[in-house]
Formats: sequence, structure tokens, C-alpha cells
Amino acid sequence: MSDGLGSDFRRNFAAESASLLDIGLYGNAAAGPQPGPDRVKRAASGRQAGGASMDRIRIVGGQRLTGTIPISGAKNATLPLMIASLLTEDTLILENVPRLVDVIQLQRILGNHGVDVLIAGKRPGDDPNQGRTIHISAKHIVDTTAPYDLVSKMRASFWVVAPLVARMGEAKVSMPGGCAIGTRPVDFLIMALEKLGVEIEIEGGYVIARARKGLRGGEIVFPKVTVGGTHTALMAASLANGTTVIENAAREPEVGDVADCLNKMGAKISGAGTSRIVVEGVARLHGARHAVLPDRIETGTYAMAVAMTGGDVLLQNARPELLQSALDVLAQTGTSVTPTNEGIRIARNGLELAPVEVTTAPFPGFPTDLQAQLMALMSRADGTSHITETIFENRFMHVQELARLGARIQLDGETATIEGVNRLKGAPVMATDLRASVSLVIAALAAEGETMVNRVYHLDRGFERLEDKLARCGAAIERISA
Ligand code: EPU
Repeated sequence: MSDGLGSDFRRNFAAESASLLDIGLYGNAAAGPQPGPDRVKRAASGRQAGGASMDRIRIVGGQRLTGTIPISGAKNATLPLMIASLLTEDTLILENVPRLVDVIQLQRILGNHGVDVLIAGKRPGDDPNQGRTIHISAKHIVDTTAPYDLVSKMRASFWVVAPLVARMGEAKVSMPGGCAIGTRPVDFLIMALEKLGVEIEIEGGYVIARARKGLRGGEIVFPKVTVGGTHTALMAASLANGTTVIENAAREPEVGDVADCLNKMGAKISGAGTSRIVVEGVARLHGARHAVLPDRIETGTYAMAVAMTGGDVLLQNARPELLQSALDVLAQTGTSVTPTNEGIRIARNGLELAPVEVTTAPFPGFPTDLQAQLMALMSRADGTSHITETIFENRFMHVQELARLGARIQLDGETATIEGVNRLKGAPVMATDLRASVSLVIAALAAEGETMVNRVYHLDRGFERLEDKLARCGAAIERISA
């Protein structure tokens, strides 16, 4: 499926990058908010992209949400799928790709290895709510080093180590470094590669991986469920010589999506979606076309927003089986959850929210990526809830900010006790990670008066057109561009 489009790809990538810079989607997450004069843009103006690092979001709470919210392709599937393109000389075509800062950041990283990314333009009859189609060609890998300044901006970019060493026999990838939601080491990823015959050295903050004679199949037993570890093992094992068995594999739907795509590319993977995956290595992979599955975390986030404000919203394209545990919790709160042919309908009319007891867990448990949003919702419940976080030890950065809006939350180790209050009141807030930021948006939608959410670049990393989607359902929300 090689198509010889190399130089066109490069030009298109450069043009796309430039235009995204113009509209601010590149943002500079590391730089943080910058001072500057405010300029208000209406959220529902049809603006397609997110904003620069200094943008803020203003919300006036109290409006019910009614209408339809289209659910985008999953960020956490798109990233490993893009990385999987490094495994083949041929073109990988991904459909339903969300327009997110993390996707653009990964394009930059892949571009550094010599990968060309073509983002298809609009076609007649295209639905503006549909994700984009991108063509990724790693025909010539010109550099097997992923430098610190690129990897440190996004942890998932460390995963390039697996396809690079599997295809090229070597890779030098910066360790990702600190992270707002916990220490998040990469020891299991390194262990998995070693089990497949990769020699690993750590030098100057870099992981240097070598497998001059290629990878060989092996048995990988993860001591703890790891999504990134499972992606890494799958990609590496696909091109290894012999059979690999992955035990205690992550069962997250995004792992299944990556395995499906790899199988379309010629890999021989069975058992993805269970905790035991078997990969029969093949000599080479080829191009394929694959549509990214819907984002279950975006789905759960908007479902909680509707539960928070009351109203009736269809989450279009959402698939209930991707977040059943979260939907069950929402049903316990008294929110109506109805799967339909088009997606999932969420409604709550007038009733109080019942409190819940929830512990985060790997899939199919309640996802850590919805913990902050649930906490925001429970801050208005009629009673006391407990939420225990078991995946990341430091994922409670939203607690202090929710308190600024009037939430009553006490932390004891990994458990938060949330005493529901009758009313929240708007305030200026900011957050340190993506899911924490969106929990503040949910709280603000029900708070009296105005909330200004600062550091919007976190939201732009993972939510496509957030303010647009909410404004179309009646929320008083707007982006303020600096
Ligand atoms: N862990 C280790 N060593 C490792 C790898 C992981 O100790 O080598 C630990 C982590 O510290 C954590 C646990 O294992 O305590 C699980 O981490 P995992 O490897 O599953 O996380 P990840 O692959 O780095 C992905 C998502 C996260 C999501 C987690 C858990 C992507 C790009 N990221 O991270 O998503 O929270 O799985 O489901 O897929 C987000 O989207 O906001 C986000 C943080």
C-alpha cells in the first residue's frame, strides 16, 4: 500500500501545523497562561478547534442541557494507533481522528522520526461533527531518537520505543519525567521489551533499546494492569520472531481497538479485550484503514454534565458497552440512562442526585479518567459519597479547586469523602490536568454566577470543541481568547 506521497505528505503536514498554530491549537502547554488583553469569542460560533494556552473559559451556571452532543473519536486510542504507524513502510489511514492538541503534539514527535502525516481536507457532504481522516506514512524512518523536549510534553509518546526497536532494531527515547497525576514510571514497559529480547540501557535520562537481531517472542506477566505496557507489548510482539503471551493484560477498549488495527495490518493477535493476549509474530506489517472507536471518557464526562444540570441529551455515536460501570453509577444517582440506536440518551428531571460509593479500577471497572468528573457531580448530591482512587496516587488535584466553588470534600489517603451541598458558587479556578479541568467545567455548569476556568490548554489536549458542544445544548459558556 505504499503510495509514494512522501514529499506531498511533508508539505501538507507543514501547512496543517502552521494553520493549527495560527488558530492556537498548538498552544504551549509548558509555558502556561500568559498575560494579555481579553477578546471574547462566542462559543457557538462554529469554531472547530481549541485555543491557545492563555485562553480561558467563562461559564455562567444554572442552565439545563438539552439536545445532542456528538461524541468524538477516542484520544487514548488515536495516540497508540498513530504510533503503530511506525511498524510499517506502508500508509496507515485512520478515520474519526479527533482534533486535539495531543494529536498535533504526536504528529510533531512522529514527524521527527521522518513520518509524514496527511490530514484529508473536507469533502462535499462531510458532516462537520465527524472526525478527520489522516494518512500516516512511516516509509523512511530517518531518526530513532525521541528527544526529551518532545516526550516530556506527552507521556504516551514514550510508547514509540516499541515500534522503533521492533522495526529498526534500535531506539533512544527520553524517559517521560514527572506528571501531575502521579509518578507514572515506565518500568513495566521496559520489562516487557526485555522479555522480548530487547537490551535496555538507561543513560542521561534516555532509554536506549537495542535488538540488532530482531525481537523474539516471550512470556510477559504484568504485575499490575498497565494500558501503556499492554500497547507496548502488542506493538513489539507483532514483529517478533515467535509467539508472545501477555498475562494480566489491560482490557481497556482502546487496547482492543489497537489490536484490531494491528490485525488489519497483518498482525496475528488473539484474546485482546481479555487479560491473556497471544501474539504470533509476523515478519512484516502492511498498511490498513481503521476508524477510531468513540471516546468513552468524553461520553462519561458529558453524561455527568447532564446529570449535574438536569435536562435531556443524546450522546450521539456513544457505545454503552465501553463505559457500562460508569453508566451503572449514573443510574444509581437517579439519572436516566437509555441506550438508543444512535447512542446513549441521558436525562435527569428535577430529582435529587443520590450519593454513591465508587472505587476506580482497570476496565471494566469505574475508570480513573472519570473520577474527577464524578466527584464534581457528587458535590451536589443529596448526602455523602465516597470515591476511592486506586490507579494514580496523586489524582486529587481537583479537590482544592472544587472547594473554591463551595464543594465539601475531605481526603483521607486514597479516599475522598464528598458531602453534597445545596449550592455551588462560581469562582475563578484552574487545574493541573485534563480530567481535573473538565470536572471544574461540570461543577461550574451548576454553580450560581460566573466561573472562569483558567489554563484551558489542559482541556484542549483531550476535549474537541468542548465549549461549542455544551453551548449548543444551552450552556452559557464561552471561550475568552487572550
Ligand atoms: N505503572 C507502573 N509502571 C509502568 C507503567 C504503569 O507502575 O511501567 C503504573 C502507573 O503508575 C499507574 C498504573 O500502573 O499507577 C496504570 O498506569 P497505565 O500504564 O495503565 O497508564 P498509562 O498507560 O500511562 C493510560 C491513559 C491514561 C489513563 C490510564 C489508566 C493514554 C494515553 N493514557 O495511561 O489516560 O488514566 O491509562 O486507564 O492512554 C487521560 O486520558 O487523562 C489519562 C491520564
